[in-house]
Amino acid sequence: MNLALLGVGLMGYPVAERLLQSGHQLTVYNRTIAKVYPLKEKGARIARTPQEAWSEAEGILLTLSDAQAIADVLFSGTYSDFLGKTIIQMGTIGPSESRAIQKELAARGADYFECPVLGSRQEAAEGTLILLVGSSDAQFQKWKGFFKALGPDPWHIGGVGQAAALKLALNQLIASHAVGFSLSLGLIERNHIPVEIFMDILRQSALYAPMFDKKLANWLRRDYARPNFPAKHLFKDVALIFQEAKDKGLSTESLEALRQLLLKTMDKGLGDLDYSSVFNAVNNI
Ligand SMILES: NC(=O)c1ccc[n+]([C@@H]2O[C@H](COP(=O)([O-])OP(=O)(O)OC[C@H]3O[C@@H](n4cnc5c(N)ncnc54)[C@H](OP(=O)(O)O)[C@@H]3O)[C@@H](O)[C@H]2O)c1
Repeated sequence: MNLALLGVGLMGYPVAERLLQSGHQLTVYNRTIAKVYPLKEKGARIARTPQEAWSEAEGILLTLSDAQAIADVLFSGTYSDFLGKTIIQMGTIGPSESRAIQKELAARGADYFECPVLGSRQEAAEGTLILLVGSSDAQFQKWKGFFKALGPDPWHIGGVGQAAALKLALNQLIASHAVGFSLSLGLIERNHIPVEIFMDILRQSALYAPMFDKKLANWLRRDYARPNFPAKHLFKDVALIFQEAKDKGLSTESLEALRQLLLKTMDKGLGDLDYSSVFNAVNNI
């Protein structure tokens, strides 16, 4: 297929590589152009403007930070006709934001659906992302084959907004688990209990989540470099979850605590590092 990918960041880069490996024709655009050059050697065409990227493309993939970035990239240029094109939104944004983008694009003749993902750089590079599709049945059927390059078993969650909401529900657990585990590990360390004893008991219990072991080395070494998913994006997601919970009449107190801790993480200058850096905020390091 002839595709465009807008946003060559931590996720966009491996998604682009994977699409090229799968034989798609791909044009890439990134605001900071230096990030796209390595993709040229791998067969991508480089566009200097978003419009140049999507002019020939049938499908336009968005791997941008947030709804503001999407608006800046899609709607701020002079050429804003998307007639006959399909825009596939893969970032983590709010359900109402996704529906608003759909409406705006429909007015410009475009087809739109969302496909937020669970997984990170490694899963994108290996084509093992969990793809959460919010679309019509017809869109899902049409694009099902294409999804296989990125994830073996795409989930059709429902319409636009529903996959975005499910993604927020999952990321709420990322934030809660990271903060909850950080506090428990702090209690263990400050009571001079061997961490391995704590972990052995935890692994045998129903309380265990695999992410605890996945991030344990980061926490023990206080090393949050080489981020897959930076703390600043988890902060962005918690704000989206807060809004969605509020809109749906759910309690937001726990989210306010997560928001404060992630804000503190960023105030410590850790926003661009892995989200496990929230440990330092929880433990007053
Ligand atoms: N990383 C993960 O593990 C992961 C997993 C699942 C979902 N996600 C979601 O996927 C999306 C992308 O994440 P990421 O990790 O790839 O983020 P990232 O590395 O920070 O990349 C963000 C991308 O958005 C672009 N961008 C931001 N603001 C812009 C603006 N105003 N105008 C134009 N371009 C703009 C950046 O361009 P520049 O390079 O010029 O800054 C970059 O290409 C986010 O919604 C994130 O929550 C990420």
